[in-house]
Amino acid sequence: MSGSYEKDAPLLEVRGLKKYFPVRSRSFFSGERRVVKAVDGVDLSVTRGETVGLVGESGCGKSTLGRTIVRLYEPTEGEIVFAGDTVPDRRRVQMIFQDPYASLNPRMTVGDIISEPLAIHGIGTRTERAERVHALLRQVGLNPDHAMRYPHEFSGGQRQRIGIARALSAEPEFVVCDEPISALDVSIQAQVVNVLEDLRDLYGLTYLFIAHDLSMIRHISDRVGVMYLGRIVEIAPAEELYGNPEHPYTKALLSSIPRIGSRKEGAGERRIVLKGDVPSPIDPPSGCTFRTRCPHAAEECADQVPVLTEREAGHYVACRLY
Ligand SMILES: Nc1ncnc2c1ncn2[C@@H]1O[C@H](COP(=O)(O)OP(=O)(O)OP(=O)(O)O)[C@@H](O)[C@H]1O
Ligand SMILES: [Mg+2]
Repeated sequence: MSGSYEKDAPLLEVRGLKKYFPVRSRSFFSGERRVVKAVDGVDLSVTRGETVGLVGESGCGKSTLGRTIVRLYEPTEGEIVFAGDTVPDRRRVQMIFQDPYASLNPRMTVGDIISEPLAIHGIGTRTERAERVHALLRQVGLNPDHAMRYPHEFSGGQRQRIGIARALSAEPEFVVCDEPISALDVSIQAQVVNVLEDLRDLYGLTYLFIAHDLSMIRHISDRVGVMYLGRIVEIAPAEELYGNPEHPYTKALLSSIPRIGSRKEGAGERRIVLKGDVPSPIDPPSGCTFRTRCPHAAEECADQVPVLTEREAGHYVACRLY
């Protein structure tokens, strides 16, 4: 139960979270157990009603963090406190996936897909569930008559709307949106983002929103966190992060956004190209894991893992330079 939960406490509190995946040892004889450090020490708190965006290069652990928060994965270490409770309540925390087709059972009707979470949690009578399905279909912009159809009868955008309706059917409070529009045609991406925003406002939802599209993340998020090799290296209110990025990795990431019609000029506008590849999360560099690609790296960066430290109100950076 969540008796001790206070109203203004964070809805979600993640402390020291790690998720390691065992991998097969390269050398059969060494017997060495190797792990992928997909999430390697994340602290994050999210307020009710807030949307926190999460960005970072492919493989930095965004999906693993999201999946561990909704308990699709068991944490290797650390704590996830939801509404004051460490025991997950699966109904209250849901996930919207990138691939709307793979996440919908092709043999089930749309109505059954959307009402399945209600059935699992024993919510409502059959009639009430059918009514809820119809209301949800309308809210995501689909025709309620389509409840009898199957997923293959819909376009990609419509299927993602079905995925959204399903995620919201049991009235969750917290939703992890893991690249919900990346698989869709550019022309319909904005529509699906609008649906997610409308539903957030309608139900007072809290989102953890993962995406590669930095402009979209800026648009939808109250705060944005930047991940690098399993850790959050910077997190700040969206406007602050985009206007005043501090971490060298964030600066590099943001410098890759094309700035059409930008009036500002000067060195800050130059695109920063990072040297080398992202190191392997099996054997990450010591200390600051970004140091192998950082233009400001110094010897001492190898010694200590920089901790997220508040530099301005609500603006946290994990870098020795700040
Ligand atoms: N089930 C798994 N088993 C083993 N390794 C995994 C597993 N899932 C993810 N990984 C590894 O963990 C690291 C983080 O992966 P993750 O999918 O979380 O990254 P991501 O930031 O979501 O990337 P992308 O932007 O490509 O979606 C990667 O090195 C990945 O190969
Ligand atoms: Mg991912």
